[in-house]
Amino acid sequence: GLKALSPQDLSGTRVLVTLGPTREYFDPVRFWSNPSSGTMGASIAVAAWLRGADVTAICGPVSLWLPPGIHRISVTSAVEMHEAATDIWPSADVAVCTAAVADFAPKPYGETKFKKTGEPLQVEFSANPDIIAALSNTRHVRQRIIGFAAETGDLAQLAREKRERKGMDIIVANHVLTPGAGFAAPTNEVTVIDANGREESWPTLPKTEVAWRLLDWLSLL
Ligand code: CTP
Ligand code: CA
Repeated sequence: GLKALSPQDLSGTRVLVTLGPTREYFDPVRFWSNPSSGTMGASIAVAAWLRGADVTAICGPVSLWLPPGIHRISVTSAVEMHEAATDIWPSADVAVCTAAVADFAPKPYGETKFKKTGEPLQVEFSANPDIIAALSNTRHVRQRIIGFAAETGDLAQLAREKRERKGMDIIVANHVLTPGAGFAAPTNEVTVIDANGREESWPTLPKTEVAWRLLDWLSLL
């Protein structure tokens, strides 16, 4: 099949991918989330698997098919994704954090449905754990971390700062308002920056091709 035709340059490499949105429920029927479809993460998981890697995909709520050869862990909230990722991390070589993790979770987490009263609803939010920061803080020297960033404003500058701050080896950044990029699109237009000062802006490409090129960069680190 396809896998036999692919270069097996990631054979023996254990890759952890986070993908999709997270859902932060504030009562049994309502949640806070975002429109991430998991396409970028699934593209990376499949590309790595085709190239021989041992892949674990930690998936927020998405409707995506993944080859059965990919180990899939399904989670709902950021706290669950954080727990799954920190569990797997010691036995991975590379983490690719594509998930659009909700930065906040509404509280309190009610057991019963909020009833409307005709009055405005006030919801208080607590901060969610930062998954990539947790992986970065517990990394071994052999481990590599790739992160993403959706920004408004000076893309390259914000991405350089975010890469440093979050301890990423590679950051992949896109403008949220660019057509053909980001959330739930089949294509992405990204600027890629690594820890050695390599920096490139790629044209609008299918996410499958962005994935393939990123894995090429990984071997250049
Ligand atoms: N990320 C994560 N856990 C979080 C938030 C973000 O692992 N709780 C990861 C994302 O998967 C992405 C990277 O961190 O790879 C950057 O996400 P982004 O939302 O751009 O950065 P934040 O640090 O959350 O900063 P902000 O949203 O305030 O720009
Ligand atoms: Ca964020």
